[in-house]
Amino acid sequence: MIRIRSSRVAALVFILCGFGLCVPFVAFAAGRAPQATKPAAAPPGKPLFEGACAVCHGMDGSGGNGPNIRHAAARLGPNGIEDLVKVGFIGSGMPTFPQLGDEKIRQIVDYVVSFDQEASGTQPGDAQKGKEIYRSKNCSQCHIVNGQGGNLGPDLTRVGTRLSPGSLSDAITSPGLKLPLDANLAERAAFRAYLMQRAVTKDGREITGLRVNDDTFSVQLRDAGGQIHSLRKLDLQKLEDLPGKSWMPSYKDGLSETQLNDLVSYLAGLRGAR
Ligand code: HEC
Ligand code: HEC
Repeated sequence: MIRIRSSRVAALVFILCGFGLCVPFVAFAAGRAPQATKPAAAPPGKPLFEGACAVCHGMDGSGGNGPNIRHAAARLGPNGIEDLVKVGFIGSGMPTFPQLGDEKIRQIVDYVVSFDQEASGTQPGDAQKGKEIYRSKNCSQCHIVNGQGGNLGPDLTRVGTRLSPGSLSDAITSPGLKLPLDANLAERAAFRAYLMQRAVTKDGREITGLRVNDDTFSVQLRDAGGQIHSLRKLDLQKLEDLPGKSWMPSYKDGLSETQLNDLVSYLAGLRGAR
């Protein structure tokens, strides 16, 4: 019986192959979608967006049953969009998508953010000049771009996919805006690494720094000079978070508006090497 059936299938494959339908049929018979190997040129969030969101927001985000979200990133920021997709608005037409998982949601958010950057067309400033400002202000003392720089602050290699121009400008003029953090969200939890702490030892010494490491018995803080202090918790009278305080100096007064725009344009263009 089985043998007869499989020989019939073989005959069918043979006939279909004669009609040039061989590949799709074999792929189908193997239980796989025939388009499994497409060149991966599009951002990973694009097909996800088109599958989950386009039905209401349109293929390009310009709206349909739901609102136009092409400029949503400037107002909500990537974190705001992420929250929305995870938590939704209660009682609105916007569903939540917990089943997508963090990774895919982040890819969708990247894609929605990219609408805003495209839509705004011209960046606010001159990215080439911005790069020069980045160099002259010595931002790389604390930030890595394409593997170059110090790691006191977050890696900026792909910051243009994470932050809208508005958030980039905020980050430069009001550091620490994102601190303290809601540790529920993975992306913000990563920022706990940049939370400053103040330790006061029992003999009255005071050390302020970034928490490099923390376990039951000890804490390591890195001070402004880059020196690491390893402190036994038993020796401390106080260990506190300094929410909202960033290592990063504010550049609010150190940059003209044009320079700030140039710098933002440079950063907005950092979308990962290669
Ligand atoms: C069933 C329809 C529907 C689907 C599917 C949908 N949305 Fe929405 N979305 C809405 C509606 C309706 C609103 C407006 C809610 C309100 O303002 O009350 C909205 C609002 C939004 C907003 C806020 C817009 C603003 O300017 O405040 C964003 C951003 C957004 N959606 C992103 C997404 C993303 C990303 C997806 C896919 C993961 C998605 N939506 C899927 C219907 C939908
Ligand atoms: C002394 C170290 C230091 C210097 C110098 C510094 N930063 Fe930062 N930067 C940080 C730290 C720490 C954070 C993370 C905490 C925060 O958001 O304030 C940060 C955050 C940022 C962010 C937000 C990144 C994200 O992923 O959210 C941007 C953008 C940024 N810095 C740009 C710059 C630019 C541009 C310069 C130069 C003009 C600069 N920084 C100089 C330490 C520094």
